[in-house]
Amino acid sequence: MRILITGGAGFIGSNLAIRLAQLGHAVTTADTFLSGHWHTLCHFEGDVLTLHDRTDLAPIYESVKRYGPFEVIFHQAAITGVIASDGTARAGEDVHGFLRNNVEQFRSILDLAVETSARVVWASSCSVYGRNPPPMREDQPYDPLNIYAFSKVQKERLSRLYATRLKHPIVGLRYSNVYGPGEAHKGKLASMIHQLARQMLVGKRPRIFRAGEQRRDFVYIDDVVELNLRAMQATKSGIYNGGAGASWSFNEVVAELNRVLGTHLEPDYFENPYGFTQDWTECDMSRARADLGFVPAFDLRRGIEAYQASGKLGV
Ligand SMILES: NC(=O)c1ccc[n+]([C@@H]2O[C@H](COP(=O)([O-])OP(=O)(O)OC[C@H]3O[C@@H](n4cnc5c(N)ncnc54)[C@H](O)[C@@H]3O)[C@@H](O)[C@H]2O)c1
Repeated sequence: MRILITGGAGFIGSNLAIRLAQLGHAVTTADTFLSGHWHTLCHFEGDVLTLHDRTDLAPIYESVKRYGPFEVIFHQAAITGVIASDGTARAGEDVHGFLRNNVEQFRSILDLAVETSARVVWASSCSVYGRNPPPMREDQPYDPLNIYAFSKVQKERLSRLYATRLKHPIVGLRYSNVYGPGEAHKGKLASMIHQLARQMLVGKRPRIFRAGEQRRDFVYIDDVVELNLRAMQATKSGIYNGGAGASWSFNEVVAELNRVLGTHLEPDYFENPYGFTQDWTECDMSRARADLGFVPAFDLRRGIEAYQASGKLGV
């Protein structure tokens, strides 16, 4: 199939692009390189479109004109967090930038999908749950705690709105905390697993929020790619959790990293400087299992082992 991946130079987009190309699809990535990096595409056999900014969809339309419509669009593009890559919370103040980039561009991509009869699978986020109690289920009310989460809520509303106009089902995936090879370019926005491993590899004590008992649903990148492949075959539109279906504390992450890296470093606890972080995220994965036949294959132990085997853990 001819497939478009927006945000294809990013962590998740590039892993998906490489896998789909390996499966024999004709894959095109489109990215503004706002946060993505060309490094992620070194092993990608496909076409790379460079967008000037979020409004620049001309290269995509040009590709459609020259080579024909895309049968599937994976929309991964987004400003991906409220913490700027320099570690400050500055990005969270840019409401205008967030909504224009994340929501308005999605609307344009959906218009393209309507015009060209493309199927759409896109990236939402568990941040839409905010303070809802775990395990997080898709029917819980929205509780966005920051502009990033709100942009995902608005995208979900758009996704429902367009479901009736699109020729094929549209599927949104609420990823939890994704980790794995290909995330290094994200800096402070990379997973805690990557950031802690990076500290530990140079002999530093891993710095985590006091007292290390915040829990996260950490999902390995290979599971996220698999979930996207399943979503591509969905028979009805929907929004699905995309997690491991379990949670682990930061203390458990440090213990697992010590085991895999062969280190014995005690956590260095510090106060959480951000008022908006979730204490406990854990996805209920029953809807994805029932409708998409998706069962996560990686728990924290297997995921960190696979990450280490890739040679990219903390590198
Ligand atoms: N990694 C996670 O843990 C996680 C969790 C929940 C949701 N998500 C979502 O998954 C998607 C991919 O995230 P990621 O972790 O790969 O981050 P990433 O920053 O590596 O990738 C995002 C990519 O989108 C590109 N981009 C941004 N705005 C664009 C635009 N308007 N047009 C084209 N390209 C644009 C960036 O340059 C980057 O390459 C995002 O939508 C993100 O919100 C990720």
